[in-house]
Amino acid sequence: FRVDMDASAADKGTYPFYMLKEVDEQPAVMRKIVQTYLDESGSPVIDQKMLETIKQSDRIYIIGAGTSYHAGLVGAKMFEKLTGIPTEVHISSEFAYDQPIMSEKPFFIFLTQSGETADSREVLVNVKKQGWPSLTITNVPKSTLSREANFTMLLYAGPEIAVASTKAYTAQVAVEAVLAKGIGEYLQHQEALDFDLKQQLSLVAVGMQAIVDSKEKLESVASRYLATPRNAFYIGRGTDWSVALEAALKLKEISYVQAEGFASGELKHGTIALIESQTPVIGIITQDRTAGLTRSNLQEVISRGASVITIATKHLSQTDDTIVLPDVDPLLTPLLSVVPAQLLAYYTSLGKGLDVDKPRNLAKSVTVQ
Ligand code: G6P
Repeated sequence: FRVDMDASAADKGTYPFYMLKEVDEQPAVMRKIVQTYLDESGSPVIDQKMLETIKQSDRIYIIGAGTSYHAGLVGAKMFEKLTGIPTEVHISSEFAYDQPIMSEKPFFIFLTQSGETADSREVLVNVKKQGWPSLTITNVPKSTLSREANFTMLLYAGPEIAVASTKAYTAQVAVEAVLAKGIGEYLQHQEALDFDLKQQLSLVAVGMQAIVDSKEKLESVASRYLATPRNAFYIGRGTDWSVALEAALKLKEISYVQAEGFASGELKHGTIALIESQTPVIGIITQDRTAGLTRSNLQEVISRGASVITIATKHLSQTDDTIVLPDVDPLLTPLLSVVPAQLLAYYTSLGKGLDVDKPRNLAKSVTVQ
């Protein structure tokens, strides 16, 4: 498998759908990112001029749409932890027309798989007018947003053909981790110096492989719990909530199940009214501080009849958990917890006989506002 942008890499091969191929490619994409961006000692190789520019900035603004916005939510936590720079994440189409009060020296990061999304470009045009510096993180070299930003970092995920984004999401999260570590090292931020990203991304690649190798189990979970219900919930706290949003989007996009990603503690403040017998509620549990709380939120829905599925990291797992993820650094658990969600969406869509790669009403790249 090659992750170069050539025609052969975009061949479906023996896969029934591109999406499944792209899900399977994720371990290789992680290794490609390690090879491309981290040197022997594990230090990020990043444009020094960009690092100097970010050093002069007082706040990072991440801008994205759809899945890229969700990747931004995960990245923001990494930037704050590894660099100490306050970071905000915004939906492109909102930021474009409802800009918050800005800090004095903002630095903008545009996340966009295609590099062509009109909503994101609208923000970039204005950012340039203001003279604010920007970076585009994209999968497509020479794309519009790449050309128009001051700096570019490529995802090296190879062409993503399925409309529902999978490997571009995990590549975005991994490249954000590289950048956060790079900035943090440049600033001599202790958390970044102590973070062995190279080793962690290697663990992630191995962990992803184990998950994609457990397809049969995920297929049976999908057919048992997700084939018939109209609604489903993913719940989690903190970074698990960010993944819940992306997991729910995957399910909506390709299986047309009305799915919602919810902050687990917030469910009881209204939305729990929607839980009825056999409503699937999928709990994501990867963070020490909030695992117990999310577990009690799951108990609340179990007592209302919900069918609960759990995705938990090993050291927090219990014997009856549905999917157990290998342990990695808590900042990087989204790279693992999202993969079973991608596959649950895939098999739900497949089981319904839908066109997984080309869901109704959606386009891979949206060039209108
Ligand atoms: C479209 C796609 C989504 C994608 C979004 C942002 O709506 O269907 O999968 O997340 O655009 O795309 P971008 O290329 O900017 O990441």
